[in-house]
Amino acid sequence: MCPGSYDPATNGHVDIIERAASQFDEVVVAVLINKTKNCLFEVSDRMAMLKEVTEHLPNICIDSWHGLLVDYCTANGIATIVKGLRAVSDFDYELQMAQLNYQLSGVDTMLLPSKPYYSYLSSSVVKEVATYGGDVGHLLPPTVHQRLINRLAERR
Ligand code: PNS
Repeated sequence: MCPGSYDPATNGHVDIIERAASQFDEVVVAVLINKTKNCLFEVSDRMAMLKEVTEHLPNICIDSWHGLLVDYCTANGIATIVKGLRAVSDFDYELQMAQLNYQLSGVDTMLLPSKPYYSYLSSSVVKEVATYGGDVGHLLPPTVHQRLINRLAERR
């Protein structure tokens, strides 16, 4: 299980998904719906972008879920959550989530160090830079970049 908000998926996300796909027979990439987060893209759009950027990976399934991550994992026989770790600043939060999720369900978490090139990259900074007209084309898959440009234009 590679969970996230994916609002939108970045090159850093794709890297983690590709590496998870090379380690496991099957990987579910799930858009977790959090109503308290003000997302730029609809869940259906986030899923469509994930489908587009993982087309080259035969063992990926895209889904969405509104609820506890571990409930999805338990209901679907998923034993492992894979998350990317960009920097030490991610570690406290990810450790807490990993311990909590394990205590709740026995589902374990594997933390994959992101490539150093992606250590500063997040969906939030990409959206902020793009909102002010900065170039984020090198941080996103081309299809996501185009959709981001279109979405920001719609909102203007
Ligand atoms: O891409 P994000 O926003 O950093 O992903 C965070 C996510 C979606 C993985 C995390 O918020 C999550 O697991 N949400 C589902 C609700 C849940 O199970 N929370 C953990 C116990 S409080």
